Amino acid sequence: MTAEYQVHGDVAVITLNNPPVNGLGISTRKAIVDGLNRAEDDAAVQVIVLTGAGAAFSGGADIKEFGAPQAMQQPHLPSVVAILEQVRKPVVAAVHSVCMGGGLELALGCHYRVVAPGCSVALPEVKLGLLPGAGGTQRLPRVLGVEMALNMIVSGEAVKSEMLAALPGQKLFDKLATSPEALLTEAMAFAREVAAKHQGGAPLPLVRSLPCKHPQGDGYFGFARNMVRGMAKNLPAPLKCVDAVEAATKGKFDDGLRREGELFAQLMLTPESRALRHLFLAERAASKIPDVPADTPKRTIAMVAVIGAGTMGGGITMNFLNAGIPVKLLEMKQEALDRGVATIRKNYEAQVKKGKLTQDKYEQRMGLLSTTLAYADIAQADLVIEAVFEEMGVKEVVFKQLDAVMKPGAILASNTSTLDVNKIAAVTKRPQDVLGMHFFSPANVMKLLEVVRGEKTAKDVLATVMAVAKKIKKTAVVAGVCDGFIGNRMVEQYGRQAGFLLDEGCTPAQVDRAIEKFGFAMGPFRMNDLAGNDISWAIRKRRYVEKPGMKYSKTADLLCELGRFGQKTGAGWYDYQPGKRDAIPSPVVEKMLEEHRKSLGIAPRKISDEEIVQRLVFALVNEGAHILEDGIASRASDIDLVYLTGYGFPLHRGGPMLYADEVGLCNLVQAMRRFRQNPNDDAAFWQPAPLLARLADEGKTFN
Ligand code: NAI
Repeated sequence: MTAEYQVHGDVAVITLNNPPVNGLGISTRKAIVDGLNRAEDDAAVQVIVLTGAGAAFSGGADIKEFGAPQAMQQPHLPSVVAILEQVRKPVVAAVHSVCMGGGLELALGCHYRVVAPGCSVALPEVKLGLLPGAGGTQRLPRVLGVEMALNMIVSGEAVKSEMLAALPGQKLFDKLATSPEALLTEAMAFAREVAAKHQGGAPLPLVRSLPCKHPQGDGYFGFARNMVRGMAKNLPAPLKCVDAVEAATKGKFDDGLRREGELFAQLMLTPESRALRHLFLAERAASKIPDVPADTPKRTIAMVAVIGAGTMGGGITMNFLNAGIPVKLLEMKQEALDRGVATIRKNYEAQVKKGKLTQDKYEQRMGLLSTTLAYADIAQADLVIEAVFEEMGVKEVVFKQLDAVMKPGAILASNTSTLDVNKIAAVTKRPQDVLGMHFFSPANVMKLLEVVRGEKTAKDVLATVMAVAKKIKKTAVVAGVCDGFIGNRMVEQYGRQAGFLLDEGCTPAQVDRAIEKFGFAMGPFRMNDLAGNDISWAIRKRRYVEKPGMKYSKTADLLCELGRFGQKTGAGWYDYQPGKRDAIPSPVVEKMLEEHRKSLGIAPRKISDEEIVQRLVFALVNEGAHILEDGIASRASDIDLVYLTGYGFPLHRGGPMLYADEVGLCNLVQAMRRFRQNPNDDAAFWQPAPLLARLADEGKTFN
């Protein structure tokens, strides 16, 4: 049973019990209706309390049910709320911890609501590209006022119960319990009071009967639409939320409810909602490693050491300080340590200035940081993350030293972006304790963490690092060992296509514009100017030796030979004015491209935005399919997650693999056939990966 029914004298208590958050899947909905029926039929019961067991009142709908046939979902949530309203005995919701989405809509269907302090209250459906579809857009404005309710619905953000209970005139909560522990007792006492009040047949209060008006009506909604349009970017849901709340202020309650239902159904079918729901499920799936059970014992991580206080080491350190975990930072020279610590300070000070961090917290965090030049000082750390120069020789020396000094059971991680983690592990006598933790720059900001599993990495090491990732608020995705892991291995193919497009007639600005219009945060050329063109130059030089047969456009090398490394040198694919980041198309680059095309004997052609987007994105997909086939990623949704959280892939498209599914794998394979005919491209690369070819053939999808 996903809800329990108990009678305490004249009070029936229905307790949702569907861990972890009392999701309102079909069995829970049926159990609620069951409980309500029993209580109504029991003459001894005067009043009903609805509450949740464990860590939530209810976290809302079960999103895995979305898209399932309607008939299998009866009673759906709007019907349960309607049944609640019609119960002839008072129903009191006893709300605590988490009351979100469908959970809040359920509470709004009750006649009374008692809440514990510290409860997170939200209608977060907009984050899944939807709107609350069980009356939330109609009832919340009636109890909180139009503006407060609209803010909550459009942002999806949680608000604490005590703050809501303190709002003047609010009708969301009838009583704030003295503490979470006292909630049930106080809710039952309150229930008995209201039962006495209604004994004479006084009508039960319904949220639907409350008035809903905004004094400025049309003016306010016009203003709200403008605000929301600016923020919503490519997502339709926020504007539909405004439509639904406006409907609550016009006409009858049931008309508004119908309008909400229509808008919900429309949103459910949008690719944007599909993409956001995919992301939500992908995040949950990524935390599960197929052969590492969830109950694998974890090692304790109470102290961390970071080797190297450069760009990455500093950012990595901040993640742990932010999570309250002490860090010892190790460098070769005192100057390097001082520089690293100064950068950390500067970053925190900027946050204090912007009001994002209090002075107290800043000092607390810095108090957790200590530095050293001696390996002996870090011996007791539970986890050490190496972020020194990207050279195997340097990394080997570091790992040998770590092997010599670190206490048994310490986890040894490398932040390498390209080197072989198995080789690094092999220089130690404890390869089972070694793995990659590949952070993205800036490491204190970017959500993505690729957890690189070596051949010998122990299961409890992986389980521990996945748990640590959660603690430092990263989205962790497990990758196998290969050059570039998931993200960088794919982006290399994307970058190669960008180069070929220049050779064939595009300008950097044209390529960037096309892919940015598709929704990428930044096109490849602006991106490289930001990261530094010298970094990819160094990688290519290595490739020319390792893979002499691989075809590359030489334009990026020519650019670097001109010293145009990007923003840091004031010139790259674009020109930059001193101190500014605006990318200005460069006549020098234009000329360089023209001359290079001439030297290759290529007559420039006009290339459509569609071709640009297809070649860049399908290159990611084809390499992604190889990665899946090689077992470097365990699921297509892991690849999508990497691209959505680490590479600025448009959120509303759900990642390259989901996008490919939407386009149709058969269409992808057809496009690749065309690309193979292009003499200036790399025909061998456009041979579809066997997995892609097979899925396309069978009419299947990646996800
Ligand atoms: P960096 O050059 O900014 O910093 C490296 C630091 O390591 C320097 O401060 C240096 O003094 C120190 N160091 C060198 N050898 C050492 C040793 N034996 N013992 C102690 N300290 C030593 O380099 P960055 O960018 O921070 O990169 C570090 C690692 O992170 C590399 O493996 C790189 O591939 C990887 N990485 C870099 C990213 C980036 O965007 N910069 C992104 C993801 C990974």
